[in-house]
Amino acid sequence: MISTENKKNKIYIFDTTLRDGEQAPGIHLNTKEKLEIAQQLAKLNVDIIEAGFPISSKSDFNSVKKISGRIKDRRIAALARANLKDIDAAGEALKSAEQPVIHTFISSSDIHLKYQLKKSREEVLELAGEAVKRSLKYTDMVEFSAMDATRSDWEFLCRLFEIVIRSGASVINIPDTVGYAIPNEFGRMIDYIFENTRGIEDAIVSVHCHNDLGLAVANSLMAIEHGVRQVECAVNGIGERAGNASLEELAMIIDTRKRDLGVFTDINIGEIIRTSSIVKSLTGYVVAPNKAIVGKNAFSHEAGIHQDGMLKERSTYEIIKPENIGLKSSKLVLGKHSGRHAFVERLAELGIRLEENDLEKAFERFKDLAEKKGAINDQDIKAIVENELREVWEHFILKYYQVQSGSNIKATSTIGIEIEGKVHEGTSTGDGPVDASFKAIDKITKINAKLVEYKIEAVSGGKDALGSVKIIVSTNGTEVMGSGISTDIVEASIKAYIDAMNRIVESSE
Ligand code: KIV
Ligand code: ZN
Repeated sequence: MISTENKKNKIYIFDTTLRDGEQAPGIHLNTKEKLEIAQQLAKLNVDIIEAGFPISSKSDFNSVKKISGRIKDRRIAALARANLKDIDAAGEALKSAEQPVIHTFISSSDIHLKYQLKKSREEVLELAGEAVKRSLKYTDMVEFSAMDATRSDWEFLCRLFEIVIRSGASVINIPDTVGYAIPNEFGRMIDYIFENTRGIEDAIVSVHCHNDLGLAVANSLMAIEHGVRQVECAVNGIGERAGNASLEELAMIIDTRKRDLGVFTDINIGEIIRTSSIVKSLTGYVVAPNKAIVGKNAFSHEAGIHQDGMLKERSTYEIIKPENIGLKSSKLVLGKHSGRHAFVERLAELGIRLEENDLEKAFERFKDLAEKKGAINDQDIKAIVENELREVWEHFILKYYQVQSGSNIKATSTIGIEIEGKVHEGTSTGDGPVDASFKAIDKITKINAKLVEYKIEAVSGGKDALGSVKIIVSTNGTEVMGSGISTDIVEASIKAYIDAMNRIVESSE
């Protein structure tokens, strides 16, 4: 057994939920939502928060800037390709960060060099060295990534890493960009890099694994066993295509098997469930029920023999105590007679901090819901906070709606929406009340959007449960999400659709 006391055995958790995670199709987080996730990541105690890719959009630039100004007790990273414009934008966005990290990258595989970059290996070496030197103008914490490293020539990769280390990079990242690696081969590649790169002993070596073959976590773990000390990952495993290595899985593998692995992270595992649910709610990306650690069935025991074992001794079928990762269900149920004080206390117990304005809005919403629904449980409260307080600038404001539907009549919906102070009304028939409502909204907004995905789920149990609707619409080749909650599922659908329309307008501003 290796001692976990040694600092050398600490695994740095580099969170890329807000950068690679946000690159997943259909995710569009605004600055306020990104800040909310970043604050939760700080509570989760990740070591580095990759806040965005500043050159890629105004909104990414502003988010990095905002997060840098607000979160002072961790490293904030910004992504930049290996060129001056990208690096200067990253440096500028990180200006107020106390511990800024510029994460610069260039491709290293021949296939990328030939078809994408159209550059020679010598040119790539030169650009990479220059990029690191330029980044040092803004911070002494520079991370360099060799994109598509796992399909690159190993010898060339070592030359590239030597140059960037000599130029001043302190973190060397080995991305499995297309999720091609398999664990043993990845381990051998890492050994080769350690053995053949001059100066690597002074750098932190990192990996960034994608999940195209479902091996992102296994490959990251293999890398740790071969001496890597930083892993890049995302909450709920979100990210490009099949996603990134899942943060919660890596954190819990290391925590559960720390005696055998001999390494540790500083992750505050009690915040895992809450972080997962905030990311799920704000991104609209549903977590599969059987997903390890954070899926809703991850701690459910169905088979009689398992239930019997659990009742006799939990450790017979449970390797993680659910309460250790923050899974608790409250016995205290609030209702319409509960006052502000009880509501605020419940929020505090759930680890939710709200600014005064938002608290007022949340309390009003709570009272409305309690009036309709009676008992309000923890999931309802989280849904109110996470859905109702999402602050999208509202170009379209729902004022009223009326729907008629039944087995013998064509569904008809009439909707009133306020735009710049004036209420516009639209009426449409459709294939059911939701379809009719969406068509009525289209008549008012005049946005040409196609519904790509529609999901509805009950926030909690019972016939009067809150319905949560999440949709993805596509407009001009871009996917945008929307969400809405209500005890009435047609209203939740209308709210989700209007939310998506507002996001389309917001992102085009
Ligand atoms: O997957 C990848 O290669 C990346 C890099 C920018 C690190 O996301
Ligand atoms: Zn990536």
